[in-house]
Amino acid sequence: MDFPRYLAAKKTVDDRALNKEVWWALRDHLPPEPAIIEVGAGIGTMVERLVEQEFIWQGRYTAVDHHPANITTARQRLAHLPPALRLELVAEDLYAFARRVHGREPWDVLIAHAVLDLLDIPAALPVLFSLLKPDGLFYFSLNFDGATILEPATDPSFDVLVEQLYHRTMDERVVSGRPSGDSYSGRHLFTHLRNRGAEILAAGSSDWVVWARHGRYPADEAYFLHFIIHTMHQALQGHPELEAAQFDQWVAQRHAQIENGELVYIAHQLDFLGRIPSTEMAVAK
Ligand SMILES: C[S@@+](CC[C@H](N)C(=O)[O-])C[C@H]1O[C@@H](n2cnc3c(N)ncnc32)[C@H](O)[C@@H]1O
Repeated sequence: MDFPRYLAAKKTVDDRALNKEVWWALRDHLPPEPAIIEVGAGIGTMVERLVEQEFIWQGRYTAVDHHPANITTARQRLAHLPPALRLELVAEDLYAFARRVHGREPWDVLIAHAVLDLLDIPAALPVLFSLLKPDGLFYFSLNFDGATILEPATDPSFDVLVEQLYHRTMDERVVSGRPSGDSYSGRHLFTHLRNRGAEILAAGSSDWVVWARHGRYPADEAYFLHFIIHTMHQALQGHPELEAAQFDQWVAQRHAQIENGELVYIAHQLDFLGRIPSTEMAVAK
């Protein structure tokens, strides 16, 4: 399956999900000509959304993602942004990027959308905050928080086992030698942010809720759902606690439910807007 297409299909799901109180608080706090840095920016749907909703039309926007295919797609999608918005697209690991730009002019606003739950948050926050000016704003959206709901049930006890084991793969994930995930990132962010001295200006839930209308999913959301089931399949294939044939049947059944417009998918997530302290002394590691 194709990751850039998944990110494009995710856009309408995210549009519905984003917590509107946190979203409007972001607009109210944006400086008039902001310098924004987005990490894990994917194919650029967040900068598109900010322009489409007239949050920004001038300033500087730096989008960093470590997958070159995402940045290539972003370059094509974002060819028509307002000329007064200077766009910089960077295909680089965010930790390497933060080290490389350390000491250069910092940004006013940091965005991480559907990204922090892939990182070791306590280790990542000082690195991310080092990109910001003192008192800089952060917008951390779609942080997964411990619930994957698929309806209708297949075999309820097997559904629960799949959900639990899937969440455990997030907790145990290691990428490039770093712990990289937390299935309760959303709720844990309250503590992680407080530990870094950050002020939370707004917070609220931003659950993905995907269902078919008259048997059809909107836009490309059927692809989004197939990708989610595919991701669970990849994560749990060969898992010693799952009977292989039963799991294969479960995966086939979930894909069939999407084809029939039956599957309802809900993922619990949280959004945050906040400010780092004026004396943040974080150093990129
Ligand atoms: C779930 S996707 C979200 C992408 C985008 N924010 C969106 O919502 O459409 C997570 C993104 O983070 C990127 N990513 C993960 N770890 C990264 C790292 N260490 N440095 C840079 N990008 C990273 C991935 O390549 C991926 O595009």
